[in-house]
Amino acid sequence: MKNGEAMSKEKIKIAVFVSGGGTNLQALIDKQKSGVVSSGEISLVVSNNPDAFALERAKKAGIKTAVVSKKECGSQEKFEDMLIDLLEENGIELIVLAGFMSILSERFTSKYPKRIINIHPSLIPSFCGKGFYGLHVHEAALEYGVKITGATVHFVNEIPDGGEIIMQKAVEVEDGDTPEVLQKRVMINAEWIILPQAVEKVSKSLLEKK
Ligand code: GRF
Repeated sequence: MKNGEAMSKEKIKIAVFVSGGGTNLQALIDKQKSGVVSSGEISLVVSNNPDAFALERAKKAGIKTAVVSKKECGSQEKFEDMLIDLLEENGIELIVLAGFMSILSERFTSKYPKRIINIHPSLIPSFCGKGFYGLHVHEAALEYGVKITGATVHFVNEIPDGGEIIMQKAVEVEDGDTPEVLQKRVMINAEWIILPQAVEKVSKSLLEKK
């Protein structure tokens, strides 16, 4: 053992909740490898969709995975109880919602104050809240005609997209953008950059409090 190693604190255990392709999860995995994320480590990836490609990405990176389907659970309460059991069994200290398409109730979010973070593909408070998810966010931005959009990482509380903002990054809208083109630009130029940075920021502050 090297000098000082015995004193070093254990990294913050992170669970990433996903539902789909998992490009944000991939950004986190890559930035963990490159050292941008160093105060926390992804210990678990949870999907509410058994077919999510994000699960393959996790497996490939050697990260433990779990599937909890709301349909199979039968109720929101049972679904959240299953999630809570998983988080407790795995000693999770920070939850990252990375394209997680299922609503979490106040009963769940209030159990983890300032320990759940989400990435939203607009500059909050624009184009956020109920109904603003996936491509709808970019459709709304284009329809309004904004010239600047971006992404926001924020803490999750009982208000949809209403928790404290941790980090934001702006992205320019270009003439002729379609929702798909804009979505891709926001992901590449904002989401994949600020999500890992925000995860490191929050993990570091949790680690300091340990
Ligand atoms: C991202 O645009 C994210 O902002 C939104 O859902 C999308 C998830 O994409 N909440 P991926 O599964 O990370 O590729």
